[in-house]
Amino acid sequence: MEFSEVVRRRRMVRDYDPDRPLPDGLLDRLVDVGLRAPTAGFTQGVSFLILDRDADRDRFWTVTSGDGEPDSWLRGMRTAPGLILLLASADAYLDRYALADKGWTERSVEPWTAPYWFVDAGMAGMAILYAAVDADPQGRIGACFFGVPADRVERVRETFGIPAEQYVVGVVSVGHRAAGERQSGSPRSRRRQPREALVHRGNWRTPKD
Ligand SMILES: Cc1cc2nc3c(=O)[nH]c(=O)nc-3n(C[C@H](O)[C@H](O)[C@H](O)COP(=O)(O)O)c2cc1C
Repeated sequence: MEFSEVVRRRRMVRDYDPDRPLPDGLLDRLVDVGLRAPTAGFTQGVSFLILDRDADRDRFWTVTSGDGEPDSWLRGMRTAPGLILLLASADAYLDRYALADKGWTERSVEPWTAPYWFVDAGMAGMAILYAAVDADPQGRIGACFFGVPADRVERVRETFGIPAEQYVVGVVSVGHRAAGERQSGSPRSRRRQPREALVHRGNWRTPKD
């Protein structure tokens, strides 16, 4: 698929066909793309936890969801046959940037105007989202990046043996789009910003200021 087509087609998919398993090895191939994403200082402090077994995904949804009836978001997302947790280690970046070629010897989060552990997890996540679209010429495979509620992160760590120093940055769900699946979420209620509102050239302030 042309890259421009991948970009055009990509959108978050939140409702999957429960009867269509993923192609063999797809989640690993997606993670391999994530591993090729750039990392600051080549730190490689982003790691991935694949949940491709029903029991593991059930445990994930149990520890991240409330007790009441599942809402439509959760009903849809629970049908995803694959989940990839994106994890990031701040320590890995602090260690890396304290090395001689970087020389940030104080090993502190203070100088990080944009903490690269989160930037890099976003880079990997984006690569995976595009790779999921690219994986299926029929355009049936889709993915969604979503966050884990802050008060559930500790339980996710405990359940899946994730060390305390790892940030659970988010999760990518992957699967075949359900029949009748339509665009959902914020783009249904919010308009895409016009290009001129977000793109500046030469000086951030536009002439109207
Ligand atoms: C950092 C980040 C966090 C997001 N968190 C969630 C989330 O928790 N749940 C969800 O359904 N979508 C989540 N999204 C998806 C956005 O709502 C979605 O990307 C946006 O509305 C644009 O829609 P599109 O990606 O389908 O074009 C998140 C996206 C990003 C980049």
